[in-house]
Amino acid sequence: MDRNAPIGVFDSGIGGLTVAREIIRQIPDEPIVYFGDTARLPYGTKSKDTIIRYSRQIIRFLNTQNVKAIVIACNTASAYALETLEAESAVPIIGVVRSGSHMAAQVTRNGRIGVIGTRATVKSGIYENTIRGYKPDAEVFSKACPLFVSLVEEGLWHDSVTEEIASRYVSELKTKFIDTMVMGCTHYPLIRSTLRKIMGENVTLVNPAYETAIELKALLEEKGLTCQRTPEEKYQFFVSDQAEEFTSFAKSILPEVVKGTKKINIEEF
Ligand code: DGL
Repeated sequence: MDRNAPIGVFDSGIGGLTVAREIIRQIPDEPIVYFGDTARLPYGTKSKDTIIRYSRQIIRFLNTQNVKAIVIACNTASAYALETLEAESAVPIIGVVRSGSHMAAQVTRNGRIGVIGTRATVKSGIYENTIRGYKPDAEVFSKACPLFVSLVEEGLWHDSVTEEIASRYVSELKTKFIDTMVMGCTHYPLIRSTLRKIMGENVTLVNPAYETAIELKALLEEKGLTCQRTPEEKYQFFVSDQAEEFTSFAKSILPEVVKGTKKINIEEF
């Protein structure tokens, strides 16, 4: 395995950029190939079989870019496809759910944890199970927030519409006296300030991206895969549709990093 090869990072859209941002912050020497499946988003309303098929195609594409490791920067795909694809893959793959669960179990003081995510992620029950693996007495309350991904992809990050919808979604969690809430979809950190306003200062908001980057760094070190010579084209972005729109959003999340985006036909993989 070439230690100077890039890390593959993927999501259904722009959400995974919140994970890429954290990787860039924590391990700035590592090159990244990012793929956003903008033609087939959202994943949160799809079946397990479809999510596995889409993720498998993306991993095939990333392998053509000779990636040395893959980060599934999508909770929905981590919930449904990680186990299957990990078993098939020659390169190490990590998701975001384990790290988010670990952090939530560590930071909660009263053991009452909220999780917000896509319908598919919430339905999978993966956060409850993983959090309880770390903290067996934890009480986990989950809430699907299906409109958030569209609001974020529409750029309504600081809009009264988003605030209204968010208030409705999380009002139920507020009655459960949670002290920690996992943003269990990689799109959600982009509306963090709205969530913070609604939940108040006493609820710790967990962004799984932070620990995912720590886990990735440790993995690269353990496998002797840390980059020694950064290639000229350090960051590359690919999507399955709407390359220009993606570029403008990506620039607002990663201003110094994004130069352009290439569109590929993911169904070919
Ligand atoms: N950003 C993804 C996640 O973390 C999926 C959003 C979607 O496509 O529904 O779950």
